[in-house]
Amino acid sequence: MGEALKKEFLTGSIRARRISTACGAEITGLDLKRPLGSTEVEALHHVLGENGILLFRNTDLSPDEHIAFSRHFGELEVHVIGDFALPGKPEVFVVSNVKEEGKLKGAVYAGQYWHSDLSYMKKPSMGSLLLCREMPEIGGDTMFANMYLAYDTLSESMRNFIGGLSAVHDYSHAYDTYFAHLKERPPLTTGQRAKTPPVEHPMVRVHPVTGRKALYVNPGFTKGIVGMPRDESQPILDLLFRHSTRAEFIYRHKWQVNDMIFWDNRCVTHYALSDYDFSVRRHMHRTTLAG
Ligand code: SIN
Repeated sequence: MGEALKKEFLTGSIRARRISTACGAEITGLDLKRPLGSTEVEALHHVLGENGILLFRNTDLSPDEHIAFSRHFGELEVHVIGDFALPGKPEVFVVSNVKEEGKLKGAVYAGQYWHSDLSYMKKPSMGSLLLCREMPEIGGDTMFANMYLAYDTLSESMRNFIGGLSAVHDYSHAYDTYFAHLKERPPLTTGQRAKTPPVEHPMVRVHPVTGRKALYVNPGFTKGIVGMPRDESQPILDLLFRHSTRAEFIYRHKWQVNDMIFWDNRCVTHYALSDYDFSVRRHMHRTTLAG
C-alpha cells in the first residue's frame, strides 16, 4: 500500500486514483445508486485492500441507498449502543454533535482517538462507510493511518517479537480513557458491558485479500498484551501507537458534504479531529461491515 497505484485502473468505466502516498484511492465513474455486479464488487474489494480507503465524492445517497451500497460488501453490524442509530434504520450509526429538543442525534465525540472499528468485538468489523451529511467550514477532518506501513517499517526483531503475541481489546477502555470527563458519553451500562467483554486478537494480522501483514493494535481499544503485566505491556504498546501514527503513514481527509469514505478496518486506523467549533453542526452517517 506504500506503493502508488500502478496506473488508474479498474473495471468498465470505474477508475481509481491514488490520493496520498500514505493511503487512499478516489473512485470515479461509478453510479452508487445502482446494484453492482460481482466483477465490480471484487475489483473494489481489491482496491480497498491495496489502498486502505476508498473515497467517493458527490454521493448524494439516501440512508436506504447507503445501506444498499454497503451490503454489496458484506453483512452490516448494528452498534451495541442502540441510541446512536438513525430512527428506523438500525444499520446506520449516527456520529453527530447536532441536538434536537435538547437531545443529541448521534454519538458525540465519537472516534476522537486512533482506533479500528469494533476491534473490541470477537469478530471485528471488516470495514466502515462514513457519509458526510453536514460539516463545519473549518475543521472536523478525519485522519487515516496505514497499518501495513506501520508493520513494514518496524525492525525485524520487533516484527518477530510481536508476531507471536496477542493483545486485549476492550470497548470500556475508550470510555475510561477518553470519555471519563464527558457527561454526554456516560459509562457503558451493565448490559452493554456484558455484550462487549474484553477480547484477544493477534497483534499482527494477515489481510485476506492482499496477503500483507498489518499491525493490529490501537490506543482506543487496546489495553494490554496477553501474558504480560501492565508495566511491561504498556511501554511496548505506547511505542507501537507512536510508531503507527507517524505523519508519513497518515492521510488526512477534509470532508465535503456528500463525500463517502469506505475504509478497511483490517489495515487502517482512523481518528476524528475535534478541532472545530462545537456549536457548528457536524453530522455523519456510518454503516459498519461485519468481520
Ligand atoms: C468514527 O470513528 O467512525 C467517526 C469518524 C468521524 O466522525 O470522522
